[in-house]
Amino acid sequence: MKGIVLAGGTATRLGELTRITNKHLLPIADYPMIYYPLKALESAGVQEVCLVTGKDHASRFIELLGDGQVSDRHGKKVFDLDITYRMQVRPGGIAEAISLAKNFANGEKTVTVLGDNIFQYPLTQYIEKFKTQKRGGRILLWKPENASAYGVPTIDETTQRIVEIQEKPSSPKSPYAVIGVYMFDPEVFAYLNNINPSARGEMEVTDLLNEYIKNSVLEYDVLEGWWRDAGQSQKELYEISKLIYDTGVQI
Ligand code: G1P
Repeated sequence: MKGIVLAGGTATRLGELTRITNKHLLPIADYPMIYYPLKALESAGVQEVCLVTGKDHASRFIELLGDGQVSDRHGKKVFDLDITYRMQVRPGGIAEAISLAKNFANGEKTVTVLGDNIFQYPLTQYIEKFKTQKRGGRILLWKPENASAYGVPTIDETTQRIVEIQEKPSSPKSPYAVIGVYMFDPEVFAYLNNINPSARGEMEVTDLLNEYIKNSVLEYDVLEGWWRDAGQSQKELYEISKLIYDTGVQI
C-alpha cells in the first residue's frame, strides 16, 4: 500500500497566517502540521509516500522533509519514510491532486490523507482492513459538532451502506463527516476520468466517492478517538494543540 499526502491549496480560511506560508507548515502543538498525517501513515506501516503540494512553497517541504529520512535537532529519528513529490500547479481540488500520483501508485492500492487532518490514534486497523478488501474504496466517518462543514454521507437505514455523499450540505442527512482519509483500489484512476470539475472549477473528492458508491464498492468504518480538520479556522489551531497536549498524542 502506498500513501499520498495532500498539502496544496490556498487556505484562505486561516486568514493572515497563510499569506506567506503553506497551511501544512503551521505549528500544531510541538510540530509542523504535516508531521501528524505523515506519522499516521508511517505508524500504519505505509513507508512510500507521495506528497502533493503547490509550487509556491514546495521548496520548504523539501527543506523540511527531504527524502523522508528526518531527524530532529537532537538527532532523534522523526521519520523513516521514502517521500516522492508531485506539483499541483493550481488549486484543482483533492481529486485532481490524487490523479497526479498515478505513476507513483504504479498499480498498487493507495491511501490518501489530507495534510491538515489530525487523529488521536494511528490508522493501522483501518488500513489493515483495506488490505484484505478485494476491490473498491474505503473511507472513515466521524461525528463532529457541525457536520455541514464537511462531506456528509447519507446512510441507508436497512443496509447501513452509504448511498450518497454531499459536500458541505446545509441540511446534513446524517451526523457524520467523511474525514480526509481515502483508501482506493487501482481503479481510482479510471474513476477519475469520469468526473468533471465542479461549479468552483475543482475536481471534488466527493464526486469521486460518489462514483465508487454508484458501483456499490465503497465501504466505511467509524473512526475511534478524536479527529480534527486543522484547516477550519485560526482558533482551531490552538484548540487542536490543546487537545493534543491534553490527550497525550505523540509523534
Ligand atoms: C475536504 C473535503 C470534505 C472532507 C474534509 C475533511 O474539505 O472536501 O469532504 O469532509 O476535507 O477534512 P475541505 O476541508 O478541504 O474544505
